[in-house]
Amino acid sequence: MKTLISISMLSADFTRLGDHLKEAEAAGTDWLHVDIMDGHFVPNITMGPDQVAQIRQSVDLPFDVHLMITHPLAYIERFAKAGADTITVHVEADDDTDACLDLIENLGCHPAVVISPETPVDAVKPYLDRVDMVLVMGVHPGFGGQSYIPETTERLKAIRAMIDASGRDIRLEVDGGVNFDTLPEILEAGADTIVSGSCLFKGDIQSNIDKFKQLF
Ligand code: DX5
Ligand code: ZN
Repeated sequence: MKTLISISMLSADFTRLGDHLKEAEAAGTDWLHVDIMDGHFVPNITMGPDQVAQIRQSVDLPFDVHLMITHPLAYIERFAKAGADTITVHVEADDDTDACLDLIENLGCHPAVVISPETPVDAVKPYLDRVDMVLVMGVHPGFGGQSYIPETTERLKAIRAMIDASGRDIRLEVDGGVNFDTLPEILEAGADTIVSGSCLFKGDIQSNIDKFKQLF
């Protein structure tokens, strides 16, 4: 599977968001990673479906929506209507994960699950027969610019093996702490969908994306 970059808009300049995201698009990013936080599942708040719908108007990239919210079931439809392509739900959220994935599928979006650092990797197993992507957090969800948790690499390897054994085409995404130093081991571990915010938006986006792609 082709390795993709999903740039996290959390680290974009929100005073000129449309232009900044267009720059990222022109520089060769593949997806836009949209972090949704509710101030309950994680100790931070970002935005809701109305803002996502607006951003959709200025960016052509596929929208990779990461729901860090306690009750995803109540909001999935609104994010799908706002233009999400992939919708990723935390297995640790309060709602039934299968019910969330049913809804995401029925709305015509790609279903995906994500696990936080303290969740055992086996938690994704029950969903491998139906998801299009598994996301592994490289940091505790909630904030951009944190350091990569080194144990993530072994977790990626374990899930890579599960995905290979499933025989299905499932993307393995990593989110949090990805930079020029951590990317090589992350790729080596089998991740094929790379979320990055602070590293890509710091300095020149074009040269940062080129540097990432040279490592693929
Ligand atoms: C963190 C978010 C990430 C975050 C990654 O909870 O899910 O998408 O923006 O930021 P960096 O790449 O700066 O670690
Ligand atoms: Zn994210």
